[in-house]
Amino acid sequence: MAEEPTLFGDLEPEPRLLMGPGPVDVYPSVLRALSSPMLGQFDPQFTQYMNEVMALYRQVFRTENQWTFLINGTARAAIEACLTSLIVPGDKVLVPVFGRFGHLLIEICGRAGAKVVTLETEWGTVFPPDRIIDAVRQHRPKVVALVHGDTSTTMAQPLAEVGPQCRELGAIVYVDATATIGGNLLEVDAWALDAVSAGLQKCMSGPPGSAPVTFNERVVEIIEHRKHVEAGIRPEGFEDADVPRISSNYFDLPMLMDYWSRVRLNHHTEATSMLYASREAARTVLGEGLEIGFRRHEIASSALRAGLEAMGLKLFGDPAHRMVNVTGVFIPEGVDGEGLRSALLEDFGIEIGTSFGPLHGKIWRIGTMGYVCRKANVLRCLGALEALLRRAGIDVTPGAGMDAAYAVYDADAVTLASGA
Ligand SMILES: Cc1ncc(COP(=O)(O)O)c(C=O)c1O
Repeated sequence: MAEEPTLFGDLEPEPRLLMGPGPVDVYPSVLRALSSPMLGQFDPQFTQYMNEVMALYRQVFRTENQWTFLINGTARAAIEACLTSLIVPGDKVLVPVFGRFGHLLIEICGRAGAKVVTLETEWGTVFPPDRIIDAVRQHRPKVVALVHGDTSTTMAQPLAEVGPQCRELGAIVYVDATATIGGNLLEVDAWALDAVSAGLQKCMSGPPGSAPVTFNERVVEIIEHRKHVEAGIRPEGFEDADVPRISSNYFDLPMLMDYWSRVRLNHHTEATSMLYASREAARTVLGEGLEIGFRRHEIASSALRAGLEAMGLKLFGDPAHRMVNVTGVFIPEGVDGEGLRSALLEDFGIEIGTSFGPLHGKIWRIGTMGYVCRKANVLRCLGALEALLRRAGIDVTPGAGMDAAYAVYDADAVTLASGA
């Protein structure tokens, strides 16, 4: 007998406060943008929106790069587009690793056929810029691929000196800024970063599924020699160069450049709703003002950290190099970390993050990013943690966490009022 079709229920997820390492709650204006009507991909309205997206993300990345657009897919799609387009099998790539996402870069470079040289540092630390530069002098890589902020360790690698010195040494610098864009200072041009990619689901407070990317003429010079146009849309007389073609069709940057330029080469069908979301996320972030947004992230993480410490918890990682949007905190001795995380979700609707690799079972990661990064949420999270820690038998002075967080916000209000 044929089975009855099963429809399941309406899609009505229970409300959550997403305070993990991403994704986070989406700006309401971005949710509205997602429900805008479809347009054809060559409708002049749509191509105008594509141009606007390019202009908006140039401002977010702080770059003059013409080639600033979206890769369809989550953040790793843009990482893959940059690295597979840049790397010809046999190229040497240096990857400094300070967390899980450095390993992802190694994986992607390896699949692209690179000879990968790695540098490692303990999770919870970053590299002194000289260590990276010395390795570039020693190994002379074509590309240095590194992560800006690695959510797995909550650390941010300083890049201001690395970029210009790599440029002097003739190396191309690729940076994964997925977790820092929009919340931490990121200066693509001033730091001489050649190719940078990102995602929407952290400080940009959009949904995962669209990955902004930017790259300069140094990158164009390398990748345009690898240009291949697929049969069926190939212009008459076009011939492939005598270099191994980019192994991915979907992530072939030169073909995507033709799609995002006046050529409007028919490549994929742009993910229409995600383009609307990306445009609105950038408008929201820029509308607030990048600097004001960075400050909001700084204050929220300072308040959260003060609150956690006042509850007797110990923060993870080198304090001089913490990202401003994710906080690593040690799970107190005797507490079932996963049990408490589940109770936080079930009893309070708050999600915080677990951790990977050497940190698994040792720390929680708490995000204060984008739309979520607000005083009310910091206080809610501290209050809920206090209740659950006390239920787990930890001696926490009632109210201590929230008082400490309030003190940070109060001091900031005084600073703002005094115009300092
Ligand atoms: C630094 C960093 N890079 C890359 C990624 C991968 O992003 P996605 O899961 O969107 O592909 C993440 C996701 O957390 C990240 O934090």
